Amino acid sequence: MDGSLFVLLLLSGLFWSSSALSHPYHYINVRMSWPEAQSYCRERFTDLATVYSMDDVNRLVNIVDAGYSGSVWIGLKRGTLKRWGWSNGENTTSQYYNWASGQPNGDEDCVSTYAGVWHDMLCSNKRYFVCYENSGYILIQSTKNWTDAQSYCRQNYTDLPTIHNSEQNNQINKILLSENYIWIGLFLDSWERSDKWSLFFRHWAAGQPSMSSGSGDCVGMSTADSGKWFQHRCDLQHPFICHGDLKLIRNQIVRLKLSCNGNCTLNDQTGILNEISKKLKSMGLEGESKISWRKSEGGEVFHQESNRTANLNNKCGRR
Ligand SMILES: *[C@@H]1O[C@H](CO)[C@@H](O)[C@H](O)[C@H]1NC(C)=O
Ligand SMILES: *[C@@H]1O[C@H](CO)[C@@H](O)[C@H](O)[C@H]1NC(C)=O
Ligand SMILES: *[C@@H]1O[C@H](CO)[C@@H](O)[C@H](O)[C@H]1NC(C)=O
Ligand SMILES: *[C@@H]1O[C@H](CO)[C@@H](O)[C@H](O)[C@H]1NC(C)=O
Ligand SMILES: *[C@@H]1O[C@H](CO)[C@@H](O)[C@H](O)[C@H]1NC(C)=O
Repeated sequence: MDGSLFVLLLLSGLFWSSSALSHPYHYINVRMSWPEAQSYCRERFTDLATVYSMDDVNRLVNIVDAGYSGSVWIGLKRGTLKRWGWSNGENTTSQYYNWASGQPNGDEDCVSTYAGVWHDMLCSNKRYFVCYENSGYILIQSTKNWTDAQSYCRQNYTDLPTIHNSEQNNQINKILLSENYIWIGLFLDSWERSDKWSLFFRHWAAGQPSMSSGSGDCVGMSTADSGKWFQHRCDLQHPFICHGDLKLIRNQIVRLKLSCNGNCTLNDQTGILNEISKKLKSMGLEGESKISWRKSEGGEVFHQESNRTANLNNKCGRR
């Protein structure tokens, strides 16, 4: 095929805007219960949306229709096990703990460090805390409960700290004040992602999740509260967000424009399709879908654009 042929793809909104990313999101503006929404997403995409970071939270908020201010289901629901996880989303499998002797000792879900050894305690306690960012650890000498400390770190730094090894534990210990319990990023969590992958990024609204059972086992993102999470009864009907590439593209028709520098011959229609296919792959859009040309009534695939556009596109333009 002529090497000077450029393929410009003009695709429609939904499919295109979010798809070049590693886990594209799709807002489905149809109200369903959480289990129905989960099946819908698993059939057509990968699963209900999983959220890994504040960047994802912001992306989710942005794809919900402006004007809708209710809750939108995401892929998190109450699980059956309680597991330790880190505020920044990391799980604790194969990781390091430095519990004080006799700790953890109760049904207390948040962790502080005292002279470098860890204690579980009630998340509602108000303590100093440590935040981290690229440049290191910062001790915040203002007392907050664990969730407020998390919000503070996420807004002003990166997050509450994750401690992977004794080196990091010692580094943090150096900036601590003696005689103080200080929040770190470890917490006990009983929520489970729809895909069962154990990553612990959570973005609860103030007062959520509620300790009492019966306040709902499924999680919705509130568009009115900058993407914070609330628990709801699973049978409530909400719009929802799926993630993953589209599995079933049935007759998705897109129009595209080809332009070239120099003498174009458009006889090699298969060659052009192969180019397009390569391009889709490079953008992470491959899949089992097949692409083909759609012929007009006269049996032709291409037609030339008006002179005006053709001139803009250099020597020849076709549509
Ligand atoms: C933390 O304090 C905020 C108010 O500043 C409150 O809404 C929230 O429920 C508290 N969280 C916990 C776990 O006590
Ligand atoms: C971020 O820091 C500022 C200044 O210390 C503070 O006023 C603000 O409340 C902090 N953000 C959060 C979410 O706590
Ligand atoms: C924990 O996280 C690591 C790295 O992010 C991942 O490879 C591992 O599969 C996770 N464990 C579970 C049980 O999901
Ligand atoms: C364009 O190329 C075709 C075949 O490669 C040739 O027949 C034709 O004369 C060329 N036209 C121009 C304007 O160069
Ligand atoms: C396109 O431009 C050429 C010369 O620039 C002119 O001869 C021709 O009539 C134009 N065709 C149309 C459809 O405007």
